[in-house]
Amino acid sequence: MAGKKMTVIDFQKYKDEGKKFSFVTAYDYTTASIINDSDVEVILVGDSLGMIMLGYDSTVPVTLDDVIHHAKPVVKGAPDKFIIGDMPFGSYNVSIEEAIRNANRMVKETGCDCIKLEGGVEMADTIRALVKAGINVMGHIGMTPQTATSFGGFKVQGGTPESARKLIEDAKALQDAGVFSIVVECVPSVVAKAMQEEVRVPILGIGAGPDVDCQVLVTQDLLGMYGDFKPKFVKQFAHIREEMVRGLNQFHEETISGEFPTPEFSFNKAVDIPKVYGG
Ligand code: KIV
Repeated sequence: MAGKKMTVIDFQKYKDEGKKFSFVTAYDYTTASIINDSDVEVILVGDSLGMIMLGYDSTVPVTLDDVIHHAKPVVKGAPDKFIIGDMPFGSYNVSIEEAIRNANRMVKETGCDCIKLEGGVEMADTIRALVKAGINVMGHIGMTPQTATSFGGFKVQGGTPESARKLIEDAKALQDAGVFSIVVECVPSVVAKAMQEEVRVPILGIGAGPDVDCQVLVTQDLLGMYGDFKPKFVKQFAHIREEMVRGLNQFHEETISGEFPTPEFSFNKAVDIPKVYGG
């Protein structure tokens, strides 16, 4: 079921009206078209594609060309959804000029509605310049996968009074720089709640508890498709991997037994094939 496509303005409207919404990832046309048939409002072409689609151990090796390549079919497959292009590591940390050049590429070449980048107060000047250049920017703080090695891996952030306060100040700095919303990943629920109350722009939580404006999950996690690991915050709303393995096994079984294909799945037109003699 597809409703009217959300706009940047709607993000704030939803928060102001206390109306929650949901956002998931997609990296290909078929998945995007399935999400387009659902009630989920927002799609992220995340750099998580490095792990989910390409089998990397982290998001760090993902390139801008990778994300652009995956974002184009998603934009095509989900015309009724708000689509975010994720800026990968190395595409916005060299200089402000390069960040603008790369963000321009993301928006122009894919047709996505905004870009997302990771980082707190240290990214404020870059975000300000991007917004001034006419690009819609979504922030991402808390557990930021691109720089996870600097805090010892994929760990919950904001677990001390000082680090919790720092996260909220980061959110305020992003808001002042002009982001229209902020993804907050892997933080204690009380920290996300305090942030949601102190910051005007919508807070989009992934592993951030219930008191945020929107819930975010990776599609392959929530549908039970990705098999390498399952973070604590992931609820599996379906078990598609098991169903896919079941279907594949049935295809294999019916192939070796000769049960497949029946005439229903064959082209049954009679053709009088001339014989070739002496060939
Ligand atoms: O790349 C991604 O999937 C993300 C989400 C975890 C928010 O950034």
